[in-house]
Amino acid sequence: MSNYHIKNFPEYFHEYRKSVRNPELFWEEIAEEHFLWRKKWDNVLNWDFTKPEVKWFEGAQLNITENCIDRHLYTNGNKNAIIFEPNNPEEPTEYITYNQLSERVNQFANVLKSKGIKKGDRVCIYLPMIPELAISLLACARIGAIHSVVFAGFSAQALATRIQDSDCKMVITSDGSYRGAKTIDLKGIVDDALESCPTIESCLVAKRINSNISMKEGRDFWLQPLLDEASKDCEPEIMDSEDPLFILYTSGSTGKPKGMVHTTGGYMVYTAFTFKNVFQYREGDVYWCTADIGWITGHSYIVYGPLANGATTLMFEGVPSYPDFGRFWEVVEKHKVNQFYTAPTAIRALAKEGVEHLEKYDLSSIKVLGTVGEPINEEAWHWYDDNVGKKKAPIVDTWWQTETGGIMITPIPFSTPTKPTYATLPFLGIQPALMDENGKEIKGNQVDGRLCIKFPWPSMARTIWGNHQRYKETYFSAFENKYFTGDGALRDEVGYYRITGRVDDVIIVSGHNLGTAPIEDAINEHPAVAESAIVGFPHDIKGNALYGYVTLKDTGESRDQDNLRKEINQMITEQIGPIAKLDKIQFTSGLPKTRSGKIMRRILRKIASRDTSNLGDTSTLLNPEVVQDIMDNVL
Ligand code: WT7
Repeated sequence: MSNYHIKNFPEYFHEYRKSVRNPELFWEEIAEEHFLWRKKWDNVLNWDFTKPEVKWFEGAQLNITENCIDRHLYTNGNKNAIIFEPNNPEEPTEYITYNQLSERVNQFANVLKSKGIKKGDRVCIYLPMIPELAISLLACARIGAIHSVVFAGFSAQALATRIQDSDCKMVITSDGSYRGAKTIDLKGIVDDALESCPTIESCLVAKRINSNISMKEGRDFWLQPLLDEASKDCEPEIMDSEDPLFILYTSGSTGKPKGMVHTTGGYMVYTAFTFKNVFQYREGDVYWCTADIGWITGHSYIVYGPLANGATTLMFEGVPSYPDFGRFWEVVEKHKVNQFYTAPTAIRALAKEGVEHLEKYDLSSIKVLGTVGEPINEEAWHWYDDNVGKKKAPIVDTWWQTETGGIMITPIPFSTPTKPTYATLPFLGIQPALMDENGKEIKGNQVDGRLCIKFPWPSMARTIWGNHQRYKETYFSAFENKYFTGDGALRDEVGYYRITGRVDDVIIVSGHNLGTAPIEDAINEHPAVAESAIVGFPHDIKGNALYGYVTLKDTGESRDQDNLRKEINQMITEQIGPIAKLDKIQFTSGLPKTRSGKIMRRILRKIASRDTSNLGDTSTLLNPEVVQDIMDNVL
C-alpha cells in the first residue's frame, strides 16, 4: 500500500526512506494505485545518466486526459474543475465543471483533428490566460499532439524562433488579450511571426477582445464556429508512457532557447503526487496558482497536477495591480481560496504598496502559501507570513525548474517545520547532492556547493528537442553521473537546503565565494529598500568587486544617498562580513526583469563592467526601459 497523502513529519521521513531505498517499488505503488492506465508497464525504471537516457513506466499505455478529466466524471462531474477570473473584475467569473471541461476538451480535440493534427505533431499555443489556454493543452494531449506553449508576452521574433525550432504545424492564438487597463494585439504578433514559419498550416483564433483583426484566407480560422460544429465525444489517443506530452522552451545562459521535452506517464504521476502533498489539497478546496500557463509552473500546477487530483484550480487573467493592488486579495476572498501559490517578485511588489490593500479583505480561507521562481528574501518571507498567512498558514518555498517538471525541494505543510529562505527538504524520491569544484560530493551538514540530483525522478525532462547532445552537455557533463541543476545551495546543521542562486551568479571576491542572494537579503532588510541585485565587476586587486543596484521604496521623500550607502554596507557587514561590502551602490528606478520575474543579472553585470557594446538577447525583458536609465547613471 502506498501512502499518497503525507500528513505528518514522521510519515515524511518514513516514506522518504522507502523512496530512496527502493525507488522502483515506491513509484510503482503510487502509479498503480492512483492513476488510470490502459496497460501496465513492463519496467518501472530504466536509466543511464551517461547517455543520458531515462524511461519511467516503459511499456505502459495511458492518456493523461483520462486521468485529468474522464475518471472524475462519475463521482465529480458537477464539481468545478476551473474557475476563471477575468482581468476586469466587473466581468463575471466563469465556472467550468468537470463535465463541461470534458465536452470542451473533446470538441477542441475534434477541431484539431479536422485541421489535420495527428499524434506526434507539434502545436504552438500562444494564448492569454483564458480557459481556451488550459483547454487547448488538454485537447492536444487528448489526441497525442505535442503542445508547445509560448508565453503570450514574448515578441514575434521569440515566437517565430520557437515555432521554427520544433516545426509546429499549427498555432492557436486569440484576437488579443487584456493586461490590466491595456489590450495587446496578439494576432498581429502572430501574423508577424508567421512570415518566417513555413511549417504552419493553420492558425486557430479565439475571440477575446473583439478587435478588428485580419484573417488570412485558408490559414486563419475563428475557433468558436469550429467548436460549435464539433462533436462532444472524442476517444483518447492511447499513448506510451514515454511519448512526448509537451515541449516548453527555457532560456539557457548562452545560445538559443532550449525546448525541454516532457513525456507522459512519469510527468503525470509526479506532478499529481507533488500537488497533493505540497499543497495539502483536500476535497472541496479551491487552489490558486498565479503563474501563467506559459511557464512550467502553470503546466504542472495549474493544469496537470491539480486536474489529475480532481481539484478546483483557479485561472486568473489579470495582474496584481489592476484595478488596484488589492486585486489578489479580492479574488482570494471572493472564491475562498485555500492554497495560494505565487512568486517572490510579486510578494515584494505587493509589500511595497503597503498592507492597507490587504486589510480590506477576508483572507481567512488561506491554509497554505507557496512561493517559487527565485530565492525568497527574508523580509518578503516575513511579510507574506505576517500579512497574508497571518502566521497561521505554512509557507512552502518550492525549489524546482522547467527541466525538473515538478517540485523538488520543499517543505510539506503541517509536517516540515519551515525556516525563512529555506526550501528545506527534498520531496519523496529526490536525492540531492552538493558538489565541490573538483567534482566531489560534499557530505555532512553546514556545507555549500553545487546542487545536483543523483537519481532519476519521474517528471524529469528527457531531452532537448532536436538536440540531445546539448541536453547531455548542459545537464550531465559537469558532474559525472549526476544531473546538474545550475544552482548553488547550502545545507544547514539539520540538513535543510537553502538555494543560494544560480552558480553563474556566484562572485569570487578576494578568493572568497560570495552568493548574491544572501547579500541581497541583507540589503533588502534595510527599511528604505524595495529590491536589490548584486553583480561582480573586475577589480585590480580583489579580482572581482561587488556592484549593487538598489531600488528604494517610493515614499515621496528625498534621501541622503551617501548616508544610505553607508547604512547598507553596515548591514551587510553585520550579516555577512566586511568581505561582502559593496564597492559601488547605484540607486535605480527598477531592475531589468524577465517576464517570469527573474532579475536579468547578465545585463546588470555588463553595465557594471562598462561592457555595454553588446547586451545580448533582451527579448525576454519585461521592462526594457529601465536598462537605459541604469546605463545613464552608472557609477
Ligand atoms: C530556476 C528555474 C520552477 C518554476 C519557475 C522557475 C530558481 C526556482 C526557486 C526557489 C530559489 C528558485 C532556480 C532554478 N528557483 N524556484 N524556491 N528558491 N530559487 O522555473 O524558469 O526553469 O527557473 O529558478 O535558480 O534553477 P525556471
